[in-house]
Amino acid sequence: MLRELRNPGVPHVAPDTTAALPDELPQDGIGGDAALDALSSMAFEKASRLDHPGFFAHMDPPTPWHAWAAAMWAAATNQNLLHPDTAPAARALEERVMRWMASAYGMDGGHFVPGSTIANLTALWAARELTGATQVIASSAAHLSVAKAARVLGMDCLQVPVDDRQRLREDLLPDDLSRSVLVLTAGTVATGAVDALTAGRGAAWRHVDAAWAGALRFSSRAEVLEGMDLADSVGISLHKWFFQPKGSAMVLFARAAEAHRVISFGGGYLAAPNVGLLGSRGASVLPLAVTLLAWGARGITERIDACLATADSLAALVAAEPRLTLWRPPRTGVVNWRPADRDTEAVHGRLDAAWVSTADIDGQRWLRSVAANPHADPRTVVRQVLDAL
Ligand SMILES: Cc1ncc(COP(=O)(O)O)c(C=O)c1O
Repeated sequence: MLRELRNPGVPHVAPDTTAALPDELPQDGIGGDAALDALSSMAFEKASRLDHPGFFAHMDPPTPWHAWAAAMWAAATNQNLLHPDTAPAARALEERVMRWMASAYGMDGGHFVPGSTIANLTALWAARELTGATQVIASSAAHLSVAKAARVLGMDCLQVPVDDRQRLREDLLPDDLSRSVLVLTAGTVATGAVDALTAGRGAAWRHVDAAWAGALRFSSRAEVLEGMDLADSVGISLHKWFFQPKGSAMVLFARAAEAHRVISFGGGYLAAPNVGLLGSRGASVLPLAVTLLAWGARGITERIDACLATADSLAALVAAEPRLTLWRPPRTGVVNWRPADRDTEAVHGRLDAAWVSTADIDGQRWLRSVAANPHADPRTVVRQVLDAL
């Protein structure tokens, strides 16, 4: 099965995958072996092949085999990191790995969360508690999770227009930011744009949503993140460019003890305070720890640099092809491109042997290729799009 995963057929299949399942909840079981047999084709053969050479699409990477093994350990031991006595070693591991990661970002601590949606919500929650801010400000290109967090927290959400490179227009920020949490994005979801991370120094709190581009700290293009270490908080998805299985991200704070204090709850049954939004939670730190040990910081750098090179070479191929248009040279591994004189949506709909995503920029639809797959082959993808014109 592992060999098949590494030797995929097509990158993407139509979602007709439930035919083999009973309509109703089965009353009698068929046993573990038979159940795994019944579902393996849905889980493997009918899954999108994120490591296929033709898959140059979303922010979701293929995961390394050692992370699968560690994810199985986590499932098998089922530690609950809410309680020190149900996860003594896993909590210690988490503390150590958090120290590694926080110091890499110039932050003094934080905690692991299942995704950047939760990282953003957690950071804005701490910000509101500590500063009394009533408003969240972000660019119109910020991820929807920022507006969602503002809604959950009962805060107003102000969207600031972006410039022609999709970066927050600093000159359009309100003069008085003293009651505002400013969210700057490092790697917008549509184009990978990075806001000026030093903007809005007068804000009550500055949070950087670095869900995608945060990993560039480990790349040879780390200067893209200049100013990020001045933030009060940072969110980073580990299940994006750190090649982790889903459910892995972190929220980091410049003053973690203070931030954690205002988002912690105690209770008679708890031996340690419950920090943040989650209650029971598993050892998603295990796959991360295994990956960081297996590759080291240098190994992460090599992989991200290789992905950046793949994005650059896709952009070069597109720029050299008169039937295609490149939006801009990519800086953070997100390539936006489209047919020069064909309907983008129609061409996208005709793709089969390669797969890219789409994004709207200034009201226009573009193809979008995110360099999360180290096995992606830009030539294959360009050839397929040209064939679909
Ligand atoms: C900039 C940005 N912020 C937040 C998120 C949400 O992250 P997650 O899907 O890990 O919740 C994403 C997801 O793509 C993103 O690109």
